[in-house]
Amino acid sequence: MGLRSKHNEATALVRQMTLQEKASLCSGKSFWYIKGNERLGLQPVMVTDGPHGLRKQTSSGDHVGLHTSVPATCFPTASALASSWNPQLLREIGVALGEQCVAENVAVLLGPGVNIKRHPLCGRNFEYFSEDPLLAGEMAAALIEGVQSQGVGTSIKHFAANNQEFGRMFIDVVVDERTLREIYLPAFEVAVKRAQPWTVMCAYNRINGTYCGEHDWLLNQVLREEWGFEGLVVSDWGATNDRVDGVRSGLDLEMPASGPDNDNKVANAVASGTLDEATLDTTAIRVASLSLLGADNVQNTVALDQVAHHTLARRAAAECAVLLKNADDLLPITKTTSFCVIGAFAKQPRYQGTGSSQVVPTTLDNAYDAIATLTGRTDIAYAPGYHPKSDALDADSIDTAARLAAEHDVALVFAGLPTIYESEGFDREHMRMPEQHNLLIEAVCRANPRTVVILSNGAPVEMPWIDQPAAVLEMYLAGQGGGGAAADLIFGDANPCGRLAETFPLRVQDVGSNPWFPGGDGRQVHYREGLYVGYRYFDTFNVPVLFPFGHGLSYTTYEYDDIDVSPTWSADREPLSVRVSVTNSGERKGSETVQVYVRSPAGAAYRPVHVLAGFTRLPLQPGEIGEAIVTLEPRAFACYDAEAQRWVTLPGEYEVCVGASSRDIRQTAVVQVRSEDAVSRTLRGPSMEGGQLQVDDAVFADMLGHAIPPPESTQPFHRNSTLNEIAAVRIGRIFKDFAMRAYLKQLGGLSDPTLARMFEEMARTMPLRALPLLAGGGGGKKGISNAHIDALLNLVNGRFLKGLWQLLRVQLHR
Ligand code: BGC
Repeated sequence: MGLRSKHNEATALVRQMTLQEKASLCSGKSFWYIKGNERLGLQPVMVTDGPHGLRKQTSSGDHVGLHTSVPATCFPTASALASSWNPQLLREIGVALGEQCVAENVAVLLGPGVNIKRHPLCGRNFEYFSEDPLLAGEMAAALIEGVQSQGVGTSIKHFAANNQEFGRMFIDVVVDERTLREIYLPAFEVAVKRAQPWTVMCAYNRINGTYCGEHDWLLNQVLREEWGFEGLVVSDWGATNDRVDGVRSGLDLEMPASGPDNDNKVANAVASGTLDEATLDTTAIRVASLSLLGADNVQNTVALDQVAHHTLARRAAAECAVLLKNADDLLPITKTTSFCVIGAFAKQPRYQGTGSSQVVPTTLDNAYDAIATLTGRTDIAYAPGYHPKSDALDADSIDTAARLAAEHDVALVFAGLPTIYESEGFDREHMRMPEQHNLLIEAVCRANPRTVVILSNGAPVEMPWIDQPAAVLEMYLAGQGGGGAAADLIFGDANPCGRLAETFPLRVQDVGSNPWFPGGDGRQVHYREGLYVGYRYFDTFNVPVLFPFGHGLSYTTYEYDDIDVSPTWSADREPLSVRVSVTNSGERKGSETVQVYVRSPAGAAYRPVHVLAGFTRLPLQPGEIGEAIVTLEPRAFACYDAEAQRWVTLPGEYEVCVGASSRDIRQTAVVQVRSEDAVSRTLRGPSMEGGQLQVDDAVFADMLGHAIPPPESTQPFHRNSTLNEIAAVRIGRIFKDFAMRAYLKQLGGLSDPTLARMFEEMARTMPLRALPLLAGGGGGKKGISNAHIDALLNLVNGRFLKGLWQLLRVQLHR
């Protein structure tokens, strides 16, 4: 049941509202509540983060995970979940999340995040599913279906092209429409069309000059008209730039509370005729519908089974883990093997990321205890090897660990990225693990090559030591059940069946988008690599990688035979079915993820060599032969012709390739595609020269279909200048210090170094217009108000007298 079910009731209510009431309905009541309308009996309802657990704050609210929240099951984060390639699992987790929301009277869970991993250093990649839009969309749709089956809404985020943390509140993503349509939008499109999330959260950034929250093309034309979205668009927290433009362009709800300023602007715009009242009515009806639907459902009750949810979290973590390497089938080891446990993460697990998604878990497994329980042993030798929260070098700890490894048959080394290495709010600086972790692994491997490395990290890392350990198990950020899951996998109680939902590059310099990430010099980031994201780049140009997209080993083996697909297909026909038989040729039961890639003929459009077109998971007993049936949607063969504004399917010989990764193709078949389509002009794209993508200004302009837009000027300073930028002048520096202190005070002090770093980065690059919202005030009595910002702009732009006079007036009227 979606928002539409409340349309009539909501319309009747909005008809009874005054102009001011309607305007006011469309902004938050507080950090987490939607206002409602007391006079008309419309209740305030709560929305809250998301995505892999519930972060319900009952006292102070914040959008960075600073203040505590009620305990809730912490499931694996999105990069792990996507590695399951198992929509059914995502649905189950969605149901559990929905139940928790019902139990806590939360109307909308703010997730999932489906932004594409354009570059492995995006600080928030742990919260996103994949570098592939089809996989990300399928995972998101399943999670949404699960949550919403419980009568709780979701907020798919961050719409759109929010692929980095650097400058996220002002950066302008310059990207061609074909790339948007084929890479950055389809995950949203799949999820919206399939699962109708109650809400879509618009991103902070701009796309081609326009903030996502005032992007009529994005919100009204594409999302609503083309995809048929029936729900409400909510701003990311503090993303509102021009509220009136936002209403005009389809941004319904501004979050969090912004004080009366923006509501007044909206009401005044209607009164003065610059905003159509019917547009405001439509917006208000959507917000009222959400309140009504939310209020209905939060009256439900559910008997929460926390133990069952934890069991699900543990099973999910095991299903998500990816066995990257397993020389001589070292894994699984028997419970009686002589082994030692090395690495502080075994006792103090790294299991989720920092920022708005941070959950207080109901309980937390650690691998050391789980191994002890599973093996029934009480004497497991252990050495920490490093400090869990810092990357300081410590040779003694390494020596002790190496000695321990030499005394045992197998060494289990838990390593990865400490919290400070990846977080919302800032991007990673490099793709390396801490040197201490690398040195530890190398030393342990020298002492005992029968070493298993178990990794906890939210995104790819370089592995300079990859030839040395016998086995590597990628757990990602596995949630509260991750420790137990690691034990299950190491000792063979579970069989790894995860597959990478992203490529692990050898070096960050090898990544297609690397020359243009994160951009920002001129407040712009150019997506010059176009379609060449992830494996689309690596595979097209045969760039060596550490582990390819889709890779993952198992304790059993699978054989593929007898591909069966129609030899011809017409573009105007039904989806195309691909069948292949898969045999479990090993001795353990397992689940194989059968991946289907479509390889296009060379032609008039630049294209990646192949794209993922479908997949399925096949559970198989030892010796069992199963049939994988994968349905390819017509879109799998199409490309977007931006000039003609339509999807086109070019005729020709396509290859349907079935395999166990993008580089492990086991069966292929040729399909002759019949179509009358042609592209309106040759679609040019980047080329490869000297081992790097070349996209000069002429090619990029050609991709864009127009000249590259100049970046926004930084002077004179304006409402979207950042604290960092205004610090170029003395008075700006003084204000920056003051604002940072005010923000810090609001957050209540920061002792955690990752939070401190996140705060620092966010504050430095926060546009001035967001300060009233996120540093308190919003026209209210305390904090920084919009009037303060106006005064400040006069001051930093050299209009001292005017600025001072304004400041005086603001203070006098408080
Ligand atoms: C994040 C969102 C989150 C919101 C509320 C923002 O900073 O980008 O993902 O839902 O805060 O915490």
